[in-house]
Amino acid sequence: MALDIIILAAGKGSRMKSNKPKVLHELAGVALLGHVIATSRELSPASITVVIGHEAGQVREYFADAEDIQWVEQTEQLGTGHAVLQAIPALNPEHDALVLYGDVPLIKPETLTSLLALSAPLKLLTAIAENPFGYGRIVREGEEIVAIVEEKDANAQEKAINEINTGILAAPVGFLQQQLPKLSSDNAQAEYYLTDIVGVAAANSVAIEAAHPASETETLGVNDRCQLATVERIYQHNLAQTLMKAGVAISDPNRIDIRGTLTCGAGVYIDPNVIFEGDVILGDGVTIESNTIIRDSEIAAGTQVLSHSVIEGAKVARQVAIGPFARLRPGSELKDGSKVGNFVEMKKSSLGAGAKINHLSYVGDAIVGDAANVGAGTITCNYDGVNKHKTEIGAGAFIGSNSSLVAPVSIGNGATVGAGSVITNNVDENHLAVARAKARTIKDWPRPQKKT
Ligand code: UD1
Ligand code: CA
Repeated sequence: MALDIIILAAGKGSRMKSNKPKVLHELAGVALLGHVIATSRELSPASITVVIGHEAGQVREYFADAEDIQWVEQTEQLGTGHAVLQAIPALNPEHDALVLYGDVPLIKPETLTSLLALSAPLKLLTAIAENPFGYGRIVREGEEIVAIVEEKDANAQEKAINEINTGILAAPVGFLQQQLPKLSSDNAQAEYYLTDIVGVAAANSVAIEAAHPASETETLGVNDRCQLATVERIYQHNLAQTLMKAGVAISDPNRIDIRGTLTCGAGVYIDPNVIFEGDVILGDGVTIESNTIIRDSEIAAGTQVLSHSVIEGAKVARQVAIGPFARLRPGSELKDGSKVGNFVEMKKSSLGAGAKINHLSYVGDAIVGDAANVGAGTITCNYDGVNKHKTEIGAGAFIGSNSSLVAPVSIGNGATVGAGSVITNNVDENHLAVARAKARTIKDWPRPQKKT
């Protein structure tokens, strides 16, 4: 049957102690609600409706590009039943509705598929909890589910029940359209409880069945920053496990953060405290040392990234050596066997095959030819205060240490620049350019003395 998904996300999330609505707090670099929306899409539903309330404008803005989402505002948070009631009138009575929560981000599509595969019209996702405190309890008579009782409304006997309501349920849209408007808020929290629909179904002989998540962690909710951190670690641990099972060596799966998509070849090694953001691709045998950040970059086979490097928007070829302490900014392109050493910053520049920038340099808006050697302390002076200009360094050129190349400027193939030069004009192929004050020596020069 066609499926309409309703995601409840109107709550304030006061326990986050934040100006940001709770569902916009990020898990692995994506808003909590974004995870639930992504999981929803995997079920190919007929529609996805998100019920928003607190800071609704901020939530809609964050998801401005999500054209497949219907937004419904619940101006007053009068309970989960009331929240679903805001969404349900617009839905097709012939469809099934699946209710998800914007702050329960780890739920897996497979678990939802198994829930939706139940034959009873009212389908509940329940779990056996070691500590059921705080959850709605599943009340059964024999095998039959007859009600859900909230913690605050439960008597001692009900509190002892350890089968809990995860909150996630599915029911025919038509049934919810008929029954939800009849719910009362006559309970301990004076709220309209979605869970009361279970008692209504039981009273009307509508069959109820329960499915269970593969792991209890799937239905963990995020109410405060401690739970957010817990859920983040579980998420990261799951990603790390998947990578390790595919052959990636991760020296400590508790100290890796993947905020996006990480694709790895065979024999990749990742040391602790590496952060991956956006789309990152690592080729076969790539090594990433600790405390490195890699964002939206592609690194080909055999390349080594030494510790404390920051790489963003870079395309790195095979057998390249990067770092320690290197910074590659967007538009950096490193060809096979090139080398970028410590305290080197590159931006919008390409480095030819086998070329080296080993120490302490800034190379921006430049093209460095194959096998060129850029000495320590070389600066491409690419900015005149208004415009950016290009520097070209030819194949096999040698730039002596502590040189400034004032762009636009071009250094020919095989040319040499003497150490300490400020180069303002082009240098022809195989020429030597030296532009520095001549050193003088003064014989027996008396050093100034302190007056006594
Ligand atoms: C709910 C269930 C409880 C279950 C628990 C699982 C009800 C009455 N109780 O309790 O059985 O064990 O979840 O975590 O459903 N929301 C709205 N609008 C509202 C109220 C809530 O959008 O008016 C949203 C919240 O933002 C949140 C979700 O619904 O994402 C759950 O609401 P919450 O108040 O946390 O429900 P619980 O009391 O935890
Ligand atoms: Ca809750």
